[in-house]
Amino acid sequence: MHLIALLLLTHTFVLSVFASPVVSEQQSLQVILSGHRPPGLPEYENGENPPAEDTEGWIDPRLNGGRFIDFTTKKFGEPLNVIISSLSDPFVLEEEGFRIYARSIGYFKECLGLHYGNIHEADLGDGLGRKEEHILFRQHYFPIFGSCWESLRGGHHFRAWRQNGTLANSGAWFIGASLEKDSSKNHKIEDDGYNLGRDWFVERAAMGSHWSGMWWRADVEWRTGLMPSGNKSINHGIPVDGRVAILTVHRL
Ligand SMILES: *[C@@H]1O[C@H](CO)[C@@H](O)[C@H](O)[C@H]1NC(C)=O
Ligand SMILES: *[C@@H]1O[C@H](CO)[C@@H](O)[C@H](O)[C@H]1NC(C)=O
Repeated sequence: MHLIALLLLTHTFVLSVFASPVVSEQQSLQVILSGHRPPGLPEYENGENPPAEDTEGWIDPRLNGGRFIDFTTKKFGEPLNVIISSLSDPFVLEEEGFRIYARSIGYFKECLGLHYGNIHEADLGDGLGRKEEHILFRQHYFPIFGSCWESLRGGHHFRAWRQNGTLANSGAWFIGASLEKDSSKNHKIEDDGYNLGRDWFVERAAMGSHWSGMWWRADVEWRTGLMPSGNKSINHGIPVDGRVAILTVHRL
């Protein structure tokens, strides 16, 4: 009697040990299926999740073939690591208002005619395919003779694209923020420069800012899984932690 019970117990134990990997395989299969991954695309890896659905104020570019890494070169890109959601004050969703907002948190508009480096493209999955950055801002510049001259010190900068094609017309800004080495190093990104650049932007937005008589403060939601973590496909092989900050900017 006891022996049979013991045998049964052992049997159940052995079964459950061998059964569990099967269950988890099925579970991960379900996760992949629920993301509607088209065949032929690379598997999600390093913490990347299937596209997020039903997000408010922005639309996951990956739902329509876009991605959270821009196109800097043929093979490599920089992370789109901040979003200003369209639940923000309408003023900052327009280009002119966004410039004023960016000034309030410490960035200056790139000077006309002094555009450094190449223009990046990004695919926001809004039906416009890869499109050129709409704006580029830097932390430093010097006004000289009515024009301006860029700081030699590198510093923080960002590029921004608006998600405004008909397939995903959220109006949100998608932003790639980073920290550059000084320009004697030809505007290379610092070690950890993508995470640092993002955090600088987000900290200042969350702290609150003002410029031109307008006061602002942003709510922050952190998301993981929108892009892989690590350095795969990332420009200069600099690893990213894979986190994206979603900001809702309120006028106070
Ligand atoms: C999208 O927004 C950008 C930035 O304001 C603008 O330059 C562009 O013309 C807009 N495109 C469409 C299709 O509305
Ligand atoms: C990417 O990260 C791996 C692991 O840390 C490292 O071995 C490799 O050199 C990095 N790639 C580049 C291009 O820096």
